Amino acid sequence: MVHRIAVIPGSFDPVTLGHLDVIERAAGLWDEVHVVVVHNPAKEAMLPINERVSLLERSIADAGYPGTIIVASWSMGLLVDYCTDVGAHVLVKGIRSQVDVAYETPMAIVNRKLAGVETVFLLPDPAHGHVSSSLVRQVAALGGDVSPYVPPAVAERIQRA
Ligand code: PNS
Repeated sequence: MVHRIAVIPGSFDPVTLGHLDVIERAAGLWDEVHVVVVHNPAKEAMLPINERVSLLERSIADAGYPGTIIVASWSMGLLVDYCTDVGAHVLVKGIRSQVDVAYETPMAIVNRKLAGVETVFLLPDPAHGHVSSSLVRQVAALGGDVSPYVPPAVAERIQRA
């Protein structure tokens, strides 16, 4: 029997309720899902990578999603090399708007050309359509309440800072 593996990459700085929605739904569609934290040099980071990984692990465990979900980080080069290493043929991304489509389309085309890895876009639950990590970072930096947008583990971490 074919064991189908999907990879959900991102900065996850921090993981939001929008990310978790995509992770939960992907876990229902694929046999194994890898959530991979990747450093994005275009963005100024709020949290170190190891903390983003542990917050993802805690948030996924707290939510208790069924299915096999593995959290990892990748800093060894191309994301498609991670996919090849674990035997994944699909990347999964959440798409909230036309802006996301414009941002994701070139990456999807390049990843398919580089290694034949397809990208599947999932539309968000409308409840989370406006949520982004950059919005959370901005609200957090200005001392606002981020709890409507992030899982409890992340809200606690930000309140402690
Ligand atoms: O959450 P983000 O910051 O929008 O995620 C962007 C990310 C990390 C998925 C993207 O920058 C990426 O895929 N980086 C890996 C580097 C790579 O493989 N680049 C070449 C093909 S796009």
